[in-house]
Amino acid sequence: TDLSRIRNFSIIAHIDHGKSTLADRFIQTCGGLSDREMAEQVLDSMDLERERGITIKAQSVTLNYTAKDGIEYKLNFIDTPGHVDFSYEVSRSLYACEGALLVVDAGQGVEAQSVANCYTAIEQGLEVVPVLNKMDLPQAEPERVAQEIEDIIGIEAADAVRCSAKSGLGVEDVLEDLIKRIPPPSGDVDGPLKALIIDSWFDNYLGVVSLVRVTQGSLKKGDKIVIKSTGRAWNADRVGIFTPKLTDTGVLGTGDVGFVVAGIKDIHGAPVGDTIVHQKGAEEAKALPGFQKVKPQVYAGLFPIRSDDYDDFRDALEKLTLNDASLFYEPENSDALGFGFRCGFLGMLHMEIIQERLEREYNLELITTAPTVIYEVLTTRGETVSVDNPSRLPDIGSIEEMREPIVEANILVPQEHLGNVIALCEDKRGIQKNMHFLSTQVQLTYELPMAEVVMDFFDRIKSASRGFASLDYHFVRFQPANLVRLDVLINGERVDALALILHKDQAHYRGRALVEKMKELIPRQMFDIAIQAAIGNQVVSRVTVKALRKNVTAKCYGGDVSRKKKLLQKQKEGKKRMKQLGNVEVPQDAFLAVLKVD
Ligand code: GTP
Repeated sequence: TDLSRIRNFSIIAHIDHGKSTLADRFIQTCGGLSDREMAEQVLDSMDLERERGITIKAQSVTLNYTAKDGIEYKLNFIDTPGHVDFSYEVSRSLYACEGALLVVDAGQGVEAQSVANCYTAIEQGLEVVPVLNKMDLPQAEPERVAQEIEDIIGIEAADAVRCSAKSGLGVEDVLEDLIKRIPPPSGDVDGPLKALIIDSWFDNYLGVVSLVRVTQGSLKKGDKIVIKSTGRAWNADRVGIFTPKLTDTGVLGTGDVGFVVAGIKDIHGAPVGDTIVHQKGAEEAKALPGFQKVKPQVYAGLFPIRSDDYDDFRDALEKLTLNDASLFYEPENSDALGFGFRCGFLGMLHMEIIQERLEREYNLELITTAPTVIYEVLTTRGETVSVDNPSRLPDIGSIEEMREPIVEANILVPQEHLGNVIALCEDKRGIQKNMHFLSTQVQLTYELPMAEVVMDFFDRIKSASRGFASLDYHFVRFQPANLVRLDVLINGERVDALALILHKDQAHYRGRALVEKMKELIPRQMFDIAIQAAIGNQVVSRVTVKALRKNVTAKCYGGDVSRKKKLLQKQKEGKKRMKQLGNVEVPQDAFLAVLKVD
């Protein structure tokens, strides 16, 4: 193996700055796929991803590129997701690389998410190579954006390659530049095998497929291998690369990135971040440092509308976790909603994607309760417990202290929208930590309660800045806070699935807004429905959904049949996603009403 001819790289880019388009150009330039196959963007493999235009799963592609110096290089491109919910996958992919291309839309400038990912790359010792994309657009301002890259990220960018992934202009220059600037991999070619598992997923035909980076020695088809953490031995049945099609090569040498299939039936048998070694000498071999395990940030209860669907629901969750180790679930029993699961997600986008997949791919009709972050409770007995479900909060009497998760948020915003964004942060109980004026943007750092940030902060910051501000955040600590549980009662009955944890100062006002919203969402029925918000035994707000006086079809005089049918049909549709709580029908929207109040 000649390591000097290998380059392993990722692309760091904000959503829509053109990462997938550029990657497709690379594949095309290097002849990996025919024109017809290129018609589709190939790296985003799930339909849902394509529809939403978001890359979720890390993938890789190996390309052969003959550079202008006449030498053929092997380029391993490891794809990374662009959304903040999935930033842990970025860090993972970066472990397989010596460098990263920072692709910035030359009309837009640097975005907070890319800044965070660049810092991660630099911390991990990668060479970051800036690229200015979308140069074909009239609004491209390469000088300004290059200056911004230098100011914010602190890397040279005046000579950054300028390209248009769309037209193809400058794409080869990008490849030449990356070969020049990103160092080749290093490692003991003749040493005992060590390979890091970057990603594992379940394939219906092959079983578990693992994407690996060989850091030492080589992995051959037929080798007896051991997955370090489990200690189990397997046979490497298939070894190869993605071109992007899965292609057997029979061997992966030091510095290579590719796949191994070894008869493993369950992704937990090949955990991400684990080390693969040869069976001979496996016990003495030291594992490579893995990755930090990701923890879900947002929890919600999911309940099937038809209780018969419970088993199908459990099977569906089991299948989804086969390919998504970051999805957490455990059985939950609600007085109001019956048997379901409490699920943990990386963020709201992750939650929406999982919900959509459960509904679309598994035909389940689900009620989702309001998402919540994890709180820490110190009890009077001196124990610290984590609470991911407001209805499971210990009795007020046994709580010594409640603590909420705090995040550090880094925001980039053009100066003209600074005031709005600061006002928003202050309104969300943010504490300003830093403010730094750059050429046209301002870099802001705030500490904020995670509960305020995970829900809709991103959308709000976008609308407060006409779409120009960008945001990145990470958990920093749990902090004591004056929190209370707000209960919702329907016709006098406390509904466990509607409980919330809130700041005491906001509880009255939010409680009022919440019941007002629910009043709009719960359809009138044959009797009055009282909706109350309460803290402990104290009712803080109350509204009534008045009973219907007349039969809705009475107006149709019996004459106009089609009109009557239409009305009944409409009523039926309106009934979708309803859950019977006692004798009251409550629609899905009402369970999420808290997301709709300020
Ligand atoms: P994610 O996969 O969600 O992270 O997005 P991405 O960064 O991969 O962006 P993508 O490649 O999907 O490009 C986003 C949009 O920008 C698409 O509509 C592209 O056609 C367009 N685009 C990409 N590169 C260029 C370019 O050089 N010029 C112009 N005009 N448009 C481009």
